[in-house]
Amino acid sequence: MVGIQKDSGTAARGQWGSRLGFIFAAAGSAVGLGNIWKFPYATAEGGGGWFVLIYIACIAVVGLPVMMSEIIIGREAQRSPVPAFEGLSGGKTMWSLVGWMGVVAGFMILSYYSIVAGWVLDYIKEAVTGGLSDLTSAGSEAMFGDLFQNFGRNVLWHALFMAATVGIVLGGVQKGIERGATIMMPALFVMLIGLMIYATTLDGFGAGMEFVFEPKGDKLEPGSVLKALGQAFFSLSLGMGALITYGSYLSKKDDIVFASAAITGMDLFVALMAAMIMFPIVFSAGLPPAGDAGLAFITMPVAFATIPGGTILAVVFFVLLLFAALTSAISLLEVVVATIIDKFGWTRKRTTLVVGAIIFAVGVPSGKSDLMIGSKSFFGWMEMISSNILLPLGGMAIALFVGWVMPQSKVYENFNAGRERAFAYRGWLFLVRFVVPVAILLVFLHAVGIIPND
Ligand code: TRP
Repeated sequence: MVGIQKDSGTAARGQWGSRLGFIFAAAGSAVGLGNIWKFPYATAEGGGGWFVLIYIACIAVVGLPVMMSEIIIGREAQRSPVPAFEGLSGGKTMWSLVGWMGVVAGFMILSYYSIVAGWVLDYIKEAVTGGLSDLTSAGSEAMFGDLFQNFGRNVLWHALFMAATVGIVLGGVQKGIERGATIMMPALFVMLIGLMIYATTLDGFGAGMEFVFEPKGDKLEPGSVLKALGQAFFSLSLGMGALITYGSYLSKKDDIVFASAAITGMDLFVALMAAMIMFPIVFSAGLPPAGDAGLAFITMPVAFATIPGGTILAVVFFVLLLFAALTSAISLLEVVVATIIDKFGWTRKRTTLVVGAIIFAVGVPSGKSDLMIGSKSFFGWMEMISSNILLPLGGMAIALFVGWVMPQSKVYENFNAGRERAFAYRGWLFLVRFVVPVAILLVFLHAVGIIPND
């Protein structure tokens, strides 16, 4: 059955209260744990300044065009991904599968994302109660190890974080998601800029900047480009319909090109700032740089214990991480919730509670760090399957859909709403039709190991 007939129609759906509210909500989705613990280290490891240039090129050529595609699909259909694909393709099942794939990806990503966000909650508690002062390197490693291996504590924090996410999504589009983002995003920027100013005053500022940004040509390899593209995709929340869903609450008048550029700009800004804050702090404390979870949860706490004003800075840093994670988690949950509401006509309240409980349950095994399935932990598989397989496939399908399947008059109308951009439209259409699918195909082949790393 075609979903369009079954859902409750546009009138009952939410809409953003303002364009800025939409931009904050979407930027909130984009700005997340990916910006803060993945980008800085990926840059330092992937060629420094060269990596930044490649990353920016990936955003311009692939990320931004796909973001506009997602918002165009959502805004045109005024539906969540599954019914949007169905409605705009004339009910073809293959396209509704792309929508469902996004729903599955949302489930998987949120289930493990919430475990990591739970660690952030634990560290906020430690930072506030003074548990992070006098931390040594060995002590910090032991502390994170204890948390990582403590199944009960992981599940407890995971439950709390999911409850917070559910609580906001329950409020609906304007009173929950938009309001949450309109409070948390400006607060996040204030904290970020505060930390940035502090970082420039440190002795290790130069060393940190050099570590991240010095162009290291010898580290450049074909794999760097593909890595940058994968990072751009995850960081911009692309490939699973998060921005289709957010776009579906956007009014017909709003300028999608401008909004996409603003969202992308904020995401890049936060990623660059995170790199410029974290490594100077690490080097000022005389510590060796680490990557991923080790950087945020082991090295940074030691650095905070070492530098002046560290106790307060630690609280600010982890609250910043929490806001980044929460606004992203909201978008992941909203994709699933909106789909169920649109397809089955459940109330938002019932949908959010049921879906939240299921995602919580799916996430529980990710809190058990010694649960191995073959070569990877449960957590590792969830992460691998969602970001390396589902997101690239979804992103490719989205570009192909907008480039080749959706009626071109509708695509044109949406691209040019707010302001006529005939020339930019041609360039964008060329990217979406040809360049984006090929680029993503390469990333995909790389991610599943068909193209080797070097
Ligand atoms: N972009 C977020 C981050 O950088 C994560 C995220 C939220 C996401 N929603 C998404 C990733 C949708 C992919 C798809 O942490």
